[in-house]
Amino acid sequence: MQKDLNFWDAQMDLLAQQDYVVIDNFLSPEDLVLAHKFFEQKQEEGVFTKAAIGASGTEKVIREIRGDYTYWLEKNRDLELKFVFESLDEVKSMFNRLLFLSLADYEFHLAHYPEGSFYKKHLDQFEGRKNRMISVIIYLNKGWKAGDGGELRVHPEGKAPIDIAPLENRCAMFRSDTLFHEVLTSNTSRKSITGWMLYQPAVLPFMAL
Ligand code: OGA
Ligand code: NI
Repeated sequence: MQKDLNFWDAQMDLLAQQDYVVIDNFLSPEDLVLAHKFFEQKQEEGVFTKAAIGASGTEKVIREIRGDYTYWLEKNRDLELKFVFESLDEVKSMFNRLLFLSLADYEFHLAHYPEGSFYKKHLDQFEGRKNRMISVIIYLNKGWKAGDGGELRVHPEGKAPIDIAPLENRCAMFRSDTLFHEVLTSNTSRKSITGWMLYQPAVLPFMAL
């Protein structure tokens, strides 16, 4: 990612003002190809699992709240995504430098929403998981068009909701603790790399939600 300090300064300002920011052309074209390849490879391997929603979640309850499948990433294992982790390291250091956050780590997964799935309105910080500060999502939906659904709908406090199209190579970032958001029903297969900047080291992946 060739983004300079001025660029990041402007994005961080926006995020501070409106609680979210959207950055297009996030990965380089070459890296985007590799990200697609990795995602497809993991799908072929069948390593995605149904996402959870905390202790209370029976299968049925979970399905009524969120319908995505995830694959948790590990920096030391998923070396094919080295460039993604490098971008995330850059993002983390920019947050710390420009917004004076004390982010210590991040946790990311691949997310797949099959046709017909959604994620109801929620916050990303909740009881039992208070260390998520900033949510970061990189969309991988080639040729997304209106009608495909799966928009990220954000609900800034005191303002009308805003729909963000999950366009390929678009990155959405928002405050995990204050910004309510949801994923509208996706009428196609919807893919992303999704995660959180943390102010404490990540818990073990099997403990994450
Ligand atoms: C989440 C989430 C939004 C999106 O995983 O918590 O809200 O656009 N994802 O995928
Ligand atoms: Ni969320």
